[in-house]
Amino acid sequence: MAHYVVNGGKRLEGVVTIGGAKNAALPIITAAVLAGERCRIENLPAIDDVKILCKILQKMGASVEFTPDGGMNLDPRGIDPHRGVTFDMVSSLRASYYLLGALLGRYGYVELAQPGGCSIGQRPMDLHIKGMRALGAEVSMSRGKITAKADKLVGSDIYLDVVSVGATINIMLAAARAEGQTIISNAAKEPHVVDVANFLNMMGASIKGAGTDVIRINGRQKLRGCTYAIIPDQIEAGTYMIAAAATGGDVIISNVIPTHLEAISAKLMESGVRVVEGDDGKEFFIRVTADTRLRAVNIRTIPYPGFPTDLQQPMMALLTTAKGNSFIVENIFEDRFNHVAELERMGANIKLNGRTAIVEGVEQLYGAPIYASDLRAGAALIIAALMADGESEVHNIRYIDRGYEHLQEKLRALGADIVRVED
Ligand code: EPZ
Repeated sequence: MAHYVVNGGKRLEGVVTIGGAKNAALPIITAAVLAGERCRIENLPAIDDVKILCKILQKMGASVEFTPDGGMNLDPRGIDPHRGVTFDMVSSLRASYYLLGALLGRYGYVELAQPGGCSIGQRPMDLHIKGMRALGAEVSMSRGKITAKADKLVGSDIYLDVVSVGATINIMLAAARAEGQTIISNAAKEPHVVDVANFLNMMGASIKGAGTDVIRINGRQKLRGCTYAIIPDQIEAGTYMIAAAATGGDVIISNVIPTHLEAISAKLMESGVRVVEGDDGKEFFIRVTADTRLRAVNIRTIPYPGFPTDLQQPMMALLTTAKGNSFIVENIFEDRFNHVAELERMGANIKLNGRTAIVEGVEQLYGAPIYASDLRAGAALIIAALMADGESEVHNIRYIDRGYEHLQEKLRALGADIVRVED
């Protein structure tokens, strides 16, 4: 166990380089299982979720070799699908549910412990299962385990009742090796959905329309190994943009794809932050500057290209000291306000009413011992601690280690006074 000690009130200044996208890396590493050959994946984020997923694949028989340049070589040929994905694996990494589509697509068989809910909501998998059944798989659930098998997967038209990133990607994985065409309607359009589709196409799949709400997949008998680099992490980039604004700083966020950040940029500019996009000939960057007290803004989380639910919590931290009342509506997950009590202990003034949080701006937050309940709540608490007057201790940072690489180094390089202390 470890915690961060943060002395707040320092303006963040300088350049931070964004790593590979967690929510693209996890399904892409899993999708490599579909190849009958070795794959090389580059620009991986150095985060615990990637390490946990690779351990799960190794336990199932894959060979995984991390290389010093932040890449990895993965050979899926030793995988035995009958070495089921156990509950301790899935409870340590929810995204292991992508093995449902990958193992079904590659071997026609998968046993997967049903992932539980987590601190942001119930996280059902009904749409994932609806998709597998539509492709012809026999899916049964008993004693907390999902078993799916199919002698042959056949393409089908699948309508997603709710826009679901996980279900969209999982169905793409299985359909990539199904016979005939699959059409996914009401598909998720997140950048990481497009990244997974691009990776599958590099492997020889035929996927069109990723990034729109209708994705067409023509299945292929075989998929080959390839080398692929993960896109920059939209949520990590957005988190640093918000941290820069929240500390009245001046930060260049480098190695980003600006179109992925339009919703965050627009909201920050609406609150009075200066946001400038540019490129230095090598990489795109976004420069965020704030030197006056920010104005309250209203946030509604909706699927991409709307304001991402993963940045709702960091944005709320910033809005705790904006001038006026901000209304934040969390439309995606039913329980994503667990950071509110921690912010209130720092002096924030927030009222909850179902899926709406009303944030009444206060002059200042004050340092306190605070406890993260999930990954993005942890990011929100780090931002609050950076803004606060005095010292904070941010606990349960194992959640933060899952999704933010080299956090202490990146923040210290921007002038933050943050130290990791092993408990
Ligand atoms: C992915 O989760 C991300 N996780 C989440 O990021 C992100 O918040 C979420 O997409 C939304 O963008 C990964 O990519 C590993 P969903 P996922 O299926 O796929 C409902 C982070 O912090 N739903 O798009 O689980 C669901 O309850 C994490 O990086 C069903 O009803 O999210 C939710 O209300 C947190 N039935 C909505 O859809 C289903 O079968 C969106 O969930 C599946 C989902």
